[in-house]
Amino acid sequence: MYASATFSVVAFACLAVTLLFEQQAVIIPENQHTLGNTGSRQETSASSPLREFWHNGSRNNTGFVAFGDSYSAGIGTGVDGKEDDCRQGIHAHAQLIAADRGPTAFQFLSCTGATTANVMAGGENSQIDSFNASLPADFALLSVGGNDLGFFDVMNACVFRFYNFYSGTCEAAIAHSRANLESDEFEIRLRIVIMEILDKIRWEKKPRFTITMTGYARFFNELTDGCDDMSFGIWWYGPKLTKKLRSDMNALVLTVNAKLHKTINAINADFTEDKVLFVDYDNAFEGHRFCEPNVTEPDYGRADTWFFLVGGQDNARNGTQSRRLSDIKTLSPTSPLVDPSSCLEPARRTGDWGMLALCYMAIAKHHDPTLRFAHENIVVDLSSRWYVPTYYGKTFHPRSLGHETIRDQIYKKWRALDG
Ligand SMILES: *[C@@H]1O[C@H](CO)[C@@H](O)[C@H](O)[C@H]1NC(C)=O
Ligand SMILES: *[C@@H]1O[C@H](CO)[C@@H](O)[C@H](O)[C@H]1NC(C)=O
Ligand SMILES: *[C@@H]1O[C@H](CO)[C@@H](O)[C@H](O)[C@H]1NC(C)=O
Ligand SMILES: *[C@@H]1O[C@H](CO)[C@@H](O)[C@H](O)[C@H]1NC(C)=O
Ligand SMILES: *[C@@H]1O[C@H](CO)[C@@H](O)[C@H](O)[C@H]1NC(C)=O
Repeated sequence: MYASATFSVVAFACLAVTLLFEQQAVIIPENQHTLGNTGSRQETSASSPLREFWHNGSRNNTGFVAFGDSYSAGIGTGVDGKEDDCRQGIHAHAQLIAADRGPTAFQFLSCTGATTANVMAGGENSQIDSFNASLPADFALLSVGGNDLGFFDVMNACVFRFYNFYSGTCEAAIAHSRANLESDEFEIRLRIVIMEILDKIRWEKKPRFTITMTGYARFFNELTDGCDDMSFGIWWYGPKLTKKLRSDMNALVLTVNAKLHKTINAINADFTEDKVLFVDYDNAFEGHRFCEPNVTEPDYGRADTWFFLVGGQDNARNGTQSRRLSDIKTLSPTSPLVDPSSCLEPARRTGDWGMLALCYMAIAKHHDPTLRFAHENIVVDLSSRWYVPTYYGKTFHPRSLGHETIRDQIYKKWRALDG
């Protein structure tokens, strides 16, 4: 429906992305990275044949909009210039799709920490309210749900324990997530988000407009033995990555994907043509999760792992990395983000995993100054500096090669529709 592309076109497109990112100033103007930014891309470069080829491959290639959470914002995948509060990254799959499409009105509204409430009209920092429906949009991308369902709490309680003893038990965090998932409320909220997007673009006037929603991927290979004795815990004596832990967390992700899919099917049933496509890219991450065979976790050197570790580097293809990575920078200990007496309320309000992790660590350290970090890379001299939130918040999010795969899975779905 969107891209009458063949496999070879995608191969060309990958190359085109590589070429385009080498001229970063053209593709990622700095001012594109603020919440609610509605500017359209300018035609600034001479058209390349590859770019034109891709452009021609899509019909009425006018624009699109991306809504959602940090998985959509592409946290950690590099910034060109200053990072915004939404932690949008230059290799977010939405950005890669925008680059493939050439100059097009792209509204990148996705924001780290966003829940359905932050996408919905009338909500705090509402993405739908920021969406300028006067600009051309042929489709929307959407990734949301993980923050509604408490993914951070699960990751914190089961894996990292930023908050040390106060992190709660893994079982309770997973049970809480499952209860949220099984409640009707989540389904209702997701339905509202989707209907509000469709209403805002006035789908009856744009019958071809559709929403492409992505799910999540399982984090672990749950079968390997070696990982049973390893830990990602922040502090000494962190939880082990046992098979049970890995399979419980994986099962939760699969349940989330199934729920998203089911809700989308129910919405589509109300229309004569499908309005929402669900892209489940989980299988494409096979072999690229944590705890793969012969990997000693945390393995900071393995580019084939498509999720970030705490403070881990991105795995963008050589030549496509951002020139200025901001998440290595540090905060002063007087930053409000690490003030144990006051950081929690604002961190909870934004839902930003990095702000939550930082604040939890600051409180834990305040309660017990003798606490020691488990891994060398986490160590900062806490008396003089902390890493910025993205350093922690990108954890368990897709790295650049993961986003390339998500993009390709989206294209695959679109091609299948084209028949
Ligand atoms: C793209 O389309 C234009 C106009 O239809 C045509 O002139 C051009 O040759 C096409 N380019 C490619 C690479 O197919
Ligand atoms: C493309 O746009 C033209 C003019 O707005 C319209 O007539 C045509 O139906 C559109 N084609 C597709 C495939 O949406
Ligand atoms: C929305 O886009 C239209 C068309 O480009 C523009 O004229 C208008 O100023 C934009 N509105 C806002 C609030 O940015
Ligand atoms: C893991 O290591 C074992 C022994 O060194 C080797 O036989 C096996 O092929 C390796 N597996 C993978 C997936 O690399
Ligand atoms: C980039 O190049 C280095 C050195 O040649 C190599 O070790 C690394 O794996 C490459 N990264 C990727 C993502 O291809």
